[in-house]
Amino acid sequence: MDISIILAAGEGTRMKSSVPKVLHRICGRPMLEYVVEASKEAGIQKNYVIIGHGGANIRDAFSDSDVVFINQPIGDEYPYGTGFAVMQAKEGIEDDSNVIILYGDTPLITGSTIDKLVKYHLDSGNYATVLTAYVEDPTGYGRIIRDEEGNINRIVEHKDANEEEINIREINSGIYCFKGKELKYALDRIDNNNAQGEYYITDVISILKEEGYKVGAYLIDDPTEIYGVNSRVQLAFCERIMRNRINRFHMENGVTIINPDNTYIEPGVQIGRDSIIYPGAILIGNTVIGENCIIGENTRIEDSSIGNGVEIYSSTIEKSIVDDGCHIGPYAHLRPNSQLGKNIKIGNFVEVKNSSIGDNSKASHLAYVGDADVGKNVNIGCGVVFVNYDGHKKHRTVVEDNAFIGSNSNLVAPVVVRKWGYVAAGSTITDEVEENALAIARARQVNKPGWVEKKNKKDK
Ligand code: UD1
Ligand code: CA
Repeated sequence: MDISIILAAGEGTRMKSSVPKVLHRICGRPMLEYVVEASKEAGIQKNYVIIGHGGANIRDAFSDSDVVFINQPIGDEYPYGTGFAVMQAKEGIEDDSNVIILYGDTPLITGSTIDKLVKYHLDSGNYATVLTAYVEDPTGYGRIIRDEEGNINRIVEHKDANEEEINIREINSGIYCFKGKELKYALDRIDNNNAQGEYYITDVISILKEEGYKVGAYLIDDPTEIYGVNSRVQLAFCERIMRNRINRFHMENGVTIINPDNTYIEPGVQIGRDSIIYPGAILIGNTVIGENCIIGENTRIEDSSIGNGVEIYSSTIEKSIVDDGCHIGPYAHLRPNSQLGKNIKIGNFVEVKNSSIGDNSKASHLAYVGDADVGKNVNIGCGVVFVNYDGHKKHRTVVEDNAFIGSNSNLVAPVVVRKWGYVAAGSTITDEVEENALAIARARQVNKPGWVEKKNKKDK
């Protein structure tokens, strides 16, 4: 069985964080998740993750995933290094396994590259294959040392490199494919006689080569895939590359993105054809958007399902369902568990929470619809408040089809407005409004003719 060993035990000091490095997020997901996904995409059945610093937090964050965690002992009394990390998984390595080594902090690697590496490894009959890249600035990376025929001989760490070696621009990505039996054989033979006093996995290459096993190097097409994250600056750099990948995917599927550099879509979000996404849109979680939608500027949509032909401007939608043809915003807020039917208008400064609203209804301005079941063709006037909270409990309001709620009214829950019920503007409704009835619940207007003139005379 093919396995991956994903190294994630390092401290990540340069992140300056109490959160383990591999849990820092890129486009909304922990870095480690991308690496595991890429490995699975390449068809690797079993994924071991080596954890140390912050290990318990990492386990918790991945509690429902199918990776196997292995603890690397950490402390002054224990050895350290990528070689020592791989040794922790030795029991999981079968002789005939292909073993792929990955890093938890290298989130841009793709399944397709891992797949190509494994194929190359198998086709070449190698016992070890290193994924390498040419980079402008190789500082910090291990360098690939090749012989006169161009075959890889060994890898030299930056800190161990001599003047000549340090100028080599072909670097070690840290990603490898090994044959199980020979990897175990070489792991027993690596030592820590080097500048950092660490057990280096890179030494496996020279050990196998010297023993006459065939080793090789596979040069990656796109060097950005092997960028690692050691600092917040690199985190932002990788985020940008990931963001562009995601946005490109949607554009290739027929979605217009006005400015991909300022559009934030998490992996897994689905968007239908001919939808147009304006700058500042943030589409996250389990979100599905239909066809021909306009997702306007600065709109945040989280864990929601949006139908076809919906327009949303400068608004926030959380854990809600919006059916076809709705028009939302600007500055509207759908809070969790809101369900809009077809062709509904939710306008400026309207908040909806835990409510369902039927087809063709409208709340165009300045209203709060909380804990309500609103029917079809209902008009909710400007400034209407569904008074759902008595200080202890929430209560529900029912507004049936074709009702009209005049502006600046309060519906004090629990209360019902029946079909075609008509609430006069400025009413505070505490009792049921019957079908076809007009309810006026406000003081009658009194006019006092000449009152102002009299007052002014008196004041002088
Ligand atoms: C390593 C490679 C170097 C390569 C570079 C690519 C070695 C000796 N060097 O160097 O050739 O160019 O990666 O990025 O392998 N880790 C553990 N346990 C440990 C030590 C490290 O799990 O005891 C993990 C870290 O969390 C990290 C990864 O291994 O995810 C790489 O370790 P790091 O110390 O960053 O290796 P580099 O010095 O960058
Ligand atoms: Ca590193």
